[in-house]
Amino acid sequence: MFSFPKADDLPHAQRLSGPLEQREWLVAGELRRFEGPLNEVVSPVRVKTDRGLEPVVLGFTPLLTAKESEEALEAAVKAWDNGRGAWPTMHVSERIAHVERFLVAMRAKRAEVVKLLMWEIGKTLKDSEKEFDRTVDYIVDTISALKEADRHATKFLQEQGIMGQVRRVPLGVSLCMGPYNYPLNETFSTMFPALLMGNPVILKPAKFGVLLVQPLLQAFRDCFPPGVVNVIYGRGRETVGTLMASGKVDVLAFIGTNKGASDLKKLHPRPHRLKAVLGLDAKNIGIVTPDVDLDEAVAECLAGSLSFNGQRCTAIKLILVHRRVVEAFLEKFVKAVNGLKAGMPWEPGVTLTPLPEPNKTDFLATLVADATKQGAKVINPGGAEVTGSYFAPAVMYPVTPSMRLWHEEQFGPIVPIGVWDEEQQVIDAVVDSPFGQQVSLFGRDAAQVGRLIDACAHQVGRINLNCQCQRGPDVFPFTGRKDSAEGTLSVNDALRVFSIRTLVAAKTTEPNKRVVRDILTHRHSSFLSTDYLL
Ligand code: G3H
Repeated sequence: MFSFPKADDLPHAQRLSGPLEQREWLVAGELRRFEGPLNEVVSPVRVKTDRGLEPVVLGFTPLLTAKESEEALEAAVKAWDNGRGAWPTMHVSERIAHVERFLVAMRAKRAEVVKLLMWEIGKTLKDSEKEFDRTVDYIVDTISALKEADRHATKFLQEQGIMGQVRRVPLGVSLCMGPYNYPLNETFSTMFPALLMGNPVILKPAKFGVLLVQPLLQAFRDCFPPGVVNVIYGRGRETVGTLMASGKVDVLAFIGTNKGASDLKKLHPRPHRLKAVLGLDAKNIGIVTPDVDLDEAVAECLAGSLSFNGQRCTAIKLILVHRRVVEAFLEKFVKAVNGLKAGMPWEPGVTLTPLPEPNKTDFLATLVADATKQGAKVINPGGAEVTGSYFAPAVMYPVTPSMRLWHEEQFGPIVPIGVWDEEQQVIDAVVDSPFGQQVSLFGRDAAQVGRLIDACAHQVGRINLNCQCQRGPDVFPFTGRKDSAEGTLSVNDALRVFSIRTLVAAKTTEPNKRVVRDILTHRHSSFLSTDYLL
């Protein structure tokens, strides 16, 4: 039975100094104090008291309104200045220097941010540290990729009597919003490529994992010119809705639900001027074929379905096992789930933790009830038991196409398992899904695996062989089809996504060559130039 600690038993090193009342928000290079109402931030961690289980209040963030949102927009629009602002026209090496200064300040806040990650979203200490370090690495790698890209950008092309120079330029005001499961990493993995390419940014932190941006606000203010980074808080409809309805947002970088993304996009009055970069819902399927290394498949499906309690867009959210091996798979899988340790995020060896979304356990229970009504069972002892904000992982079998768990994203610790006899059944499951992010194929029969690869290759963005679904390594393209994504992210792709290729072209005549040569020699243009970065 899962148990929360008593307040007095919290380890000293992991305690927070007290509720953090954050009133500042960042606009036009200033940390402004908001005197209006605040939003309470509550931890998924509960504590035992004489009155029962009580939530831990971590702090408060400003409930900004449309007015402050407009101020942030105005600051970003000014920093953009129709592409003539200091930031979009700044030499790439100088922009990199600003970001490198920020990285120094960010690294100094590691412990603070990691602690808030644990408390705000219940991510384990190890995974919280990993999220922080991976984010720093992502920014460092993006800088290297940009240097490399810029080196090639100075080349002149000659084609069919036309000479031209192609360069990537920024798109404009970028609104960056990340999800609560990776509130630092996924937000920064759009925000920093956007910044490095020269776009001013408005950052709206995720719905949970919001306080953890506070330790970085000062660094944002100090390391970037006014208006280049603006951070707003508050209810999405009021704040983000205002931004989108203004028509002045040029790029929407949003990682969340496809419904949320659609609602936001519809608010923009000039849809063709808006570029959307979206990472959305997924229902990744793990397909276990009869000729398989079962131990490997079980270990990968376990990590794939239950890392961070299944709260990853890349999680395996349905496992379909061939009838010939299903009994053995279930036995090993349940044993592996039983071996997982549940507890508080800072406890060593813990993988299962409480959930941050307030009504999540109720939602998960309805999915279990629906599947149970239609003949599936929770097959692991204690599965689906609820203790406050903790939901014990539930392995459900046999899950069939009529059940919600077959096609709906649970984004939580339920592992639906189904059985198949004919390849066409698993192919239909992939094809019929409204989502198309990834699949995992488990098997050693090359012919069968090859057939399944071909069946999935035009349905999803990544096919994993004998391995869980995942985003990394971050240089690999992270994308999806159908309702799972728009655009591709990766260290290199993100730089492309936040920019557009623009060229200067002229007929290769002597007078034109002379004009171009003069522009280059006398540095009359910063765009048409052969200046190298370093
Ligand atoms: O939630 C979606 C994340 O991009 C997943 O990343 O596969 O590295 O956990 P991950």
